[in-house]
Amino acid sequence: MAGIYVHIPFCKKLCFYCDFYHLISTEDNTAFIDALLLEASLRQDYLENETVSTIYFGGGTPSAFSIKELGTILNEIKKLFRVEENCEITIELNPDDINSVYLEGLRELNFNRVSLGIQSWRDSDLKMLNRRHDSAHAAQALKETFDAGFENVSIDLIYGIPGMSAEEWALNLDQAFSYDIKHLSAYHLTLEPGTVFGKMLEKGLIAEIDEDESNMLFNILIEKAESAGFIQYEISNFGKPGYFSIHNSNYWKQVNYLGLGPSAHSFNGYSRQWNVRDVKGYIKLINTGKSFFEKEELDTKARFNEYIMTSLRTMWGIDLEYIEETFEKEGYDYVVNTAGKFKDYGMMIQNKNSLVLTNQGKMISDNIISEFMMVVNS
Ligand SMILES: C[S@@+](CC[C@H](N)C(=O)[O-])C[C@H]1O[C@@H](n2cnc3c(N)ncnc32)[C@H](O)[C@@H]1O
Ligand code: SF4
Repeated sequence: MAGIYVHIPFCKKLCFYCDFYHLISTEDNTAFIDALLLEASLRQDYLENETVSTIYFGGGTPSAFSIKELGTILNEIKKLFRVEENCEITIELNPDDINSVYLEGLRELNFNRVSLGIQSWRDSDLKMLNRRHDSAHAAQALKETFDAGFENVSIDLIYGIPGMSAEEWALNLDQAFSYDIKHLSAYHLTLEPGTVFGKMLEKGLIAEIDEDESNMLFNILIEKAESAGFIQYEISNFGKPGYFSIHNSNYWKQVNYLGLGPSAHSFNGYSRQWNVRDVKGYIKLINTGKSFFEKEELDTKARFNEYIMTSLRTMWGIDLEYIEETFEKEGYDYVVNTAGKFKDYGMMIQNKNSLVLTNQGKMISDNIISEFMMVVNS
């Protein structure tokens, strides 16, 4: 049931908001691909021969790579790991990279799920975000994706962009749901330190939208998604029944995964590790047999915190039986006591054996989660 994540850290243009590890694409990807494949072979035992049920090519921009390059990586992974026959194989695509020939190539490689980075249907937003595509491009890319025979199609949208009104956000969602997409990831814009927007924030040239407006946009999202037949299975993720992302769900359900490539994270139940965030350094360290990652062994409290952080964001919530089995009576009592006030305030409800956030609770999920955190001994 394990997963594999492949990080392709190259982008053709840098978006002003993005803090994912990425740099401008290079002409020749050979040294990177060789290092990635070497990493895959060095870490062949990481998943302890578990079957792999999801592979996810993310970035950066995986669609900056040719079909041949993607095939080289995917085929090697299939050789090295026990990949299930009906494995979910996802690729993130930037709308302006793709055409019918490229999409056909992806189908031939057996990619069976795509995630298109539309971000907004408004050209003024796309310009502000420094995206390469415009809305006409996005519509064309989506049409070509369906025409190529992809059925399991997800799109990414960003809301809370300064200058976007509630009506415009609602129209953005209507346009998204007018297509036969099966999944939507909708993220509230965050102004990350170190990004262009982060620097603009420091200089007072841009500001976060206020909390009431954020909540209003979030409510519009929940209502529109629900009436279009989508289920909010995680705070930012909505799927039609049967189309939740297995890959993302696995992250939230503590399933083991191996992350390949610079900045990629891996998890095996007891430790978490993350590769260096530097392509050149990554290639050099791998090729010289040196350590290319940092690792944190997770003690009981850290494992508890991880579980709360991920489970509380999902529709499945905190599983109280799992808490009792894994963290014993002490963990169980702690969770039930902490949940008390949130239940009283209508922020959380207890179903038979689980604690889940209500829509009101989802609006302040980060605050609620932080109240559940156990202090980790260092
Ligand atoms: C790794 S990125 C992108 C994949 C692909 N390169 C693209 O741009 O479409 C995954 C998604 O995270 C979202 N994202 C990244 N940074 C964000 C930010 N600061 N605020 C909100 N959403 C963000 C965007 O919606 C983006 O599509
Ligand atoms: S959003 Fe996508 S294309 Fe833009 S910089 Fe981030 S990874 Fe690259």
